[in-house]
Amino acid sequence: MQIKDQPGAALGVTVEDFDHTTASEADVQDLKKSVYTRKIAVLKGQDLTPEQFLALGKRLGRPETYYEPMYEHPDVPEVFVSSDVPENGRRIGVPKTGRFWHADYQFMPDPFGITLIHPQVVPEKNRGTYFIDMGRAYERLPEELRAAIAGTRCRHSVRKYFKIRPQDVYRPISEIIEEVETKTPPVVQPTTFTHPMTGETVLYLSEGFTVGIEGGDGEPLDGELLERLFEATGQLDDTFGHEGIHLQSFEKGDLLVWDNRSLIHRARHTTTPEPTVSYRVTVHDERKLYDGMRVA
Ligand SMILES: [Fe+2]
Repeated sequence: MQIKDQPGAALGVTVEDFDHTTASEADVQDLKKSVYTRKIAVLKGQDLTPEQFLALGKRLGRPETYYEPMYEHPDVPEVFVSSDVPENGRRIGVPKTGRFWHADYQFMPDPFGITLIHPQVVPEKNRGTYFIDMGRAYERLPEELRAAIAGTRCRHSVRKYFKIRPQDVYRPISEIIEEVETKTPPVVQPTTFTHPMTGETVLYLSEGFTVGIEGGDGEPLDGELLERLFEATGQLDDTFGHEGIHLQSFEKGDLLVWDNRSLIHRARHTTTPEPTVSYRVTVHDERKLYDGMRVA
């Protein structure tokens, strides 16, 4: 296994010759260390079945199966499918996922540390995923914004991006909203926490899932503060030219592993729809999102 920095990029490594069936435990630990410190690892030359992809994920941690079954791979439920390509005339997975800034499972009480994506059908033109390193973003915040968020907490919810399921057709919208709020009530996390693997301070919020900010006493703060944080971190830049935004490209055979604590990401916009399929596996590592986190 060889790990090298991605040329010309502020983050990311490429990893050659990683074979999850023969890798030593020391190799797996080295790989995970690169994921935590360099944020994205692109494993080259992988061409895995859903079963093999899950087996690779299990070398890194404990898989979390997505809570909404419509995303499941028909044979391997732990594999989440993003696809706009029918298989044998049948739709599998869900199209157009993640076209908004978010960290995976940020709206859940116990988000996992690592996300793995294995692209299957790679678009010709609009290839890649956008990332923002929210550890670096915190470092770059103006002093007055850092002071304004000290001791605050953020409220995260899936409500803006919950995807209507086939079985929701003809249901009143109020009933669906009620179901979302009951099944996945908003969660409150500190606005910043210490990354348990690196010690860096992470600004934990996203335009897609963060719906409120409050003081240490639970008193809601002006939503304008959140807007300023989204703005400062590049999440409102629809040209994607902000200095904090990294476009990670990939090709067939790549498998991306990233740090879901400190990175937020967003699927790339497509002007013309192109066939795109990718598989995702998500895993919990040895630690919670941050040390001392309370999980109900
Ligand atoms: Fe995502």
